[in-house]
Amino acid sequence: MDLVDPPVLPYVLHHTQQITGPLVDRIGFSIRKATESDAPGILGCLRAAFEEYRSSYTPAAFLDTVRTPETIGQRLKDMYVFVATDESGQIIGTIACNVVDQDEGHIRGMAVLPAWHGAGVAKRLLRCAESQLRELSCKRVSLDTTEPLKRTIRFHEKNGFRPSDRIKDFFGMPLFEYVKSLA
Ligand SMILES: CC(C)(COP(=O)(O)OP(=O)(O)OC[C@H]1O[C@@H](n2cnc3c(N)ncnc32)[C@H](O)[C@@H]1OP(=O)(O)O)[C@@H](O)C(=O)NCCC(=O)NCCS
Repeated sequence: MDLVDPPVLPYVLHHTQQITGPLVDRIGFSIRKATESDAPGILGCLRAAFEEYRSSYTPAAFLDTVRTPETIGQRLKDMYVFVATDESGQIIGTIACNVVDQDEGHIRGMAVLPAWHGAGVAKRLLRCAESQLRELSCKRVSLDTTEPLKRTIRFHEKNGFRPSDRIKDFFGMPLFEYVKSLA
């Protein structure tokens, strides 16, 4: 006879997920400002997170999104970049933000390693970026997203972002702006 009766497995998996979610959120990772030496980890994270969307992006839009060793340095200079790290120090998530107008902040470069999806990493990164922008006196924040990122759009809406109906061209793809008040 098997040690684990098969009908028990779905129950165990379901409840393990409920237990590990909040625990991972509290003790499994931490967030800090990025330094120049984090560039390779940030690049790895962006590439891994966006890989499944590569075929839905134009090549130029994909490269601008995931950055390259040549362009990541400028991102680190121009924007406030945060990283989430696991207990071994590996970068598992990242986000970047800056002030674009007198009282408007902008967020881009948000990515979490697929193995960490659903653990609350992006929610915590977003909170850090929003606090940073509040400290810089921003009253609202914007971000842009593309049509293939359907799950991401649900994430933004759950976190208070709404479409502004402004659509730009992003290397041959429509780019949809989402906004949120920081008041
Ligand atoms: C969008 C993205 C950053 C979200 O990261 P994340 O760390 O998984 O998100 P969180 O865990 O903080 O929260 C996501 C929500 O979706 C749910 N969720 C996320 N991933 C999930 C998964 N794999 N399975 C089930 N639910 C999941 C979570 O339960 C959470 O819902 P809740 O707030 O009700 O608890 C991540 O999916 C990603 O890197 N996507 C590709 C790159 C991208 O789209 N970047 C943003 C560009 S604008």
